[in-house]
Amino acid sequence: MPEHGPTIVTTITGLRADLGERRRSGQQIGFVPTMGYLHDGHGSLMRAAADDNDATVASIFVNPLQFGAGEDLDSYPRDLERDAAVAAANGVDLLFTPTVEEMYPKGPVLTSVTVAGLSERWDGASRPTHFAGVATVVSKLFNIVGPCRAYFGEKDYQQLAVIRRMTADLSIPVEVIGCPIVREPDGLAMSSRNVYLDPAQRAAATVLRRALDAGEAAVAAGASDPADVDASMAAVVGAEPLAELDYAAAVDPDTLTQPERLGPRVRLLIAARVGATRLIDNAGVEIEAPQPIGAS
Ligand code: PAF
Repeated sequence: MPEHGPTIVTTITGLRADLGERRRSGQQIGFVPTMGYLHDGHGSLMRAAADDNDATVASIFVNPLQFGAGEDLDSYPRDLERDAAVAAANGVDLLFTPTVEEMYPKGPVLTSVTVAGLSERWDGASRPTHFAGVATVVSKLFNIVGPCRAYFGEKDYQQLAVIRRMTADLSIPVEVIGCPIVREPDGLAMSSRNVYLDPAQRAAATVLRRALDAGEAAVAAGASDPADVDASMAAVVGAEPLAELDYAAAVDPDTLTQPERLGPRVRLLIAARVGATRLIDNAGVEIEAPQPIGAS
């Protein structure tokens, strides 16, 4: 763990110079891309990176490309001083904090990375340009940092699937590692956007976790038609007056499509608006295969 907190680097050339030296001396680089306003979900990614690698880089960049018109780009919470302290406490060596001009010096970005199919359903249906913005900035960050391993939270499950697929399709030499969701004691998944919730909305926001519990219970009780599981989750959100459901879906964990009958591995995805804040969450369910008669 660095003694004096991370070195803050704002330029691509400066970061490449530092990382080049580390690579020449044989260090393996771990990378945690973020948009800042760090919480313990980010902390868990940083700790995993620090455990697995010789040096850990985290980036803080509120990427305009992944925000649609009317979304919260301007109000997205920012606090670099606090973020530097969180990064220091979680073993980050280098904190890359570029400006928009540093990342996109030519103004409008004419090149876009799109992962077809995976990017279009669920969150992509409500946010049609979002995943292309994510894939474009993450591929650019991978080119800048050149990490051996990169760490993403499973909280953004569809984002993780898009990044895994992009990395495989483009043969980007990085191992993409998904880390478990970190939750508040009442079950709400940690998110930088939770800060937007007033006390009544904050209490109501636990409805996402409660809906996932209902979905898990439906699967455990033997539901195999995804529509039945979706309905059990939707009913929980429907009973919460402060929440408005976007989608609740039991999907194949790899393709994110809905099979006719659920297989042994299921991912439950949910998105809902609580007040003006759009929240997402998900959970994995594994169904044990029935034991053959006579098996001990
Ligand atoms: O998950 C996030 O914070 C962002 O989508 C990411 C991966 C840093 C890209 O801007």
